[in-house]
Amino acid sequence: MQGLNHTKVFIAETEERNLAGFVETYVTRVEKVGKIGVIYYIAVKPEYRHKGIGRSLVFKAEEYFRVRKAIFSTASTKYDNLASRLLFKSMGYKELLVTHNPGPVVERLIKALYAYEDDIIFYKRL
Ligand SMILES: CC(C)(COP(=O)(O)OP(=O)(O)OC[C@H]1O[C@@H](n2cnc3c(N)ncnc32)[C@H](O)[C@@H]1OP(=O)(O)O)[C@@H](O)C(=O)NCCC(=O)NCCS
Repeated sequence: MQGLNHTKVFIAETEERNLAGFVETYVTRVEKVGKIGVIYYIAVKPEYRHKGIGRSLVFKAEEYFRVRKAIFSTASTKYDNLASRLLFKSMGYKELLVTHNPGPVVERLIKALYAYEDDIIFYKRL
């Protein structure tokens, strides 16, 4: 996986310095779209969920994407991942249903995001 040779990971820690969650990101270029930031994976340990950590990790990723001059922040997930869908929706992301929007741009996005097994691409202009 070429894009994953240079990912940037941000972690969230508790006051006791326990790992609570992380977000793995990278920046890439998509033809006819431009430079995009990709949230490849985000996870918060079950015991630390619903405290705003997921949101703060997405925020951190967006900050990094802006510094890298990306014009969009993106992520992807499966249709039934409600927690992820609501997290991204609450932060202003739009949903692109992959199966409802076939075409070259979506194909390029799927490739850029390694979203081969996902149904939904989230995107937000930065
Ligand atoms: C998705 C995930 C990262 C959210 O982390 P989190 O720290 O619990 O999220 P936050 O506390 O910041 O929640 C932010 C918003 O997301 C939504 N949300 C998060 N978890 C939710 C859930 N289980 N059900 C419904 N909405 C949820 C809510 O809108 C929430 O806002 P609110 O608390 O004001 O209602 C976490 O559930 C997780 O690690 N899931 C497993 C891994 C995964 O599926 N990753 C996503 C792959 S793209």
